[in-house]
Amino acid sequence: MRTQVGIIGAGPAGLFLAHLLHRAGISSVIIESRSREEVEGTVRAGVLEHWVAELIKDLGLGERMLREAHFHDGITLQWNRQRHHVDIAALTGGKHVTVYPQHEVLKDLIAGLLARGGEILFGARAAAIHGADTETPSVEFCRDATNTSEMLHCDYIAATDGFHGPGRQAIPAAKRVEYQKIYPFGWLGILTKAPLSWHELIYANQQDGFALLSTRSPDVQRMYIQCDPADDIAAWSDARIWDELHARLDTEGWALTEGPIFQKGIIPLRSFVCETMRHGRLFLAGDAAHIVPPTGAKGLNLAVADVRVLSRLLDAVHKTGDLSVLDRYSATCLRRIWKAERFSWYMTTMLHKNDEDSDFERRIHFAELDLIRTSESSARSLAENYVGLPFDNGHE
Ligand code: FAD
Ligand code: DHB
Repeated sequence: MRTQVGIIGAGPAGLFLAHLLHRAGISSVIIESRSREEVEGTVRAGVLEHWVAELIKDLGLGERMLREAHFHDGITLQWNRQRHHVDIAALTGGKHVTVYPQHEVLKDLIAGLLARGGEILFGARAAAIHGADTETPSVEFCRDATNTSEMLHCDYIAATDGFHGPGRQAIPAAKRVEYQKIYPFGWLGILTKAPLSWHELIYANQQDGFALLSTRSPDVQRMYIQCDPADDIAAWSDARIWDELHARLDTEGWALTEGPIFQKGIIPLRSFVCETMRHGRLFLAGDAAHIVPPTGAKGLNLAVADVRVLSRLLDAVHKTGDLSVLDRYSATCLRRIWKAERFSWYMTTMLHKNDEDSDFERRIHFAELDLIRTSESSARSLAENYVGLPFDNGHE
């Protein structure tokens, strides 16, 4: 098989890249190890930055999102049983928070790509990347159905294969520097069939720590609670989950509405960045190159930002034949990535109870929250980061 850009992984990074390349007249093939049903059924992120929602519309894929997503003017922060509304729309010149789940975005991207003649090989696992630093790179892969080894020959390879994929390891260890921080807490996430409890997302830091109230649809709600990342999910009965959620989210005269829990799971929290993101004709994008703790709602958005840069540079090469523009890829992406890492670390630190912290640090976190309440410049900084920083035009 032959294509211009071989893409490993049909997550947000791989699928947005395929669409952006298609729009630029560049061919691609996506190799995805899971089935379409699995990809479309995995519950992960919920919040889109303003420009990502706009991009979905620009790509002609926004019809269902416009019908089904929730568009919020702001978010609510809660501490000391008090709530504070951060008016994101007012602080950012009218930008909105779009709550539209990742797997719904993926369904729209997959259907749209297939309808445009795009090629996605589901149930095909990339086993090895060959010749990344030559002019003739290729991806060796194996389809579940046949269990035989095949080769995808291409001009460039995009490793959009997530944190555990083989892409990052294909950059020689001597060329990679990895930065990592593991947090001593995790998130227990649930989906519950219950009506909306509050008109926007609530990020709470109460005595026992963090909780997040989000939504999926008028009758399905998404909630998260800080927990020990080593906890066994079996130790979290539904009654215990509701007790903890009430303890962290209820306020005087207001109580969370309960419903049957139909999905629950625990994720660890980490920050991770791999520098460089390029080796010859191999480019890392999305979780393959970086991880943020989910508190800032940045992971999916950052994955799309990487492939926005990559597609523009490949388009420039396609038009001019000048390969030197590709030298800008890693540094351009990393400038945005480190700002998103900073914001995600800041939100995580401010909103969680860290047992390794002293009471002094805990009070500093409450002071930071109170600063957002009382200082417009602090609130604006949070709002600008949350809806997505502007692109660093001219330096891309
Ligand atoms: P992935 O989505 O991981 O996709 C990689 C794909 O590659 C997968 O489909 C995988 O099957 C495939 N693959 C892996 N190895 C191979 C191989 N060898 N061969 C072929 N295919 C392979 N982000 C936000 O922006 N906002 C949020 O609100 C948010 N909330 C989150 C909440 C939770 C609970 C979690 C877990 C994450 C959240 N995130 C959020 C993060 C977001 O989900 C990820 O950052 C995003 O999925 C990254 O996209 P990606 O395309 O880089 O990687
Ligand atoms: C959701 C996830 C997040 O990480 C976040 O910060 C906000 C919302 C969600 O899944 O709805």
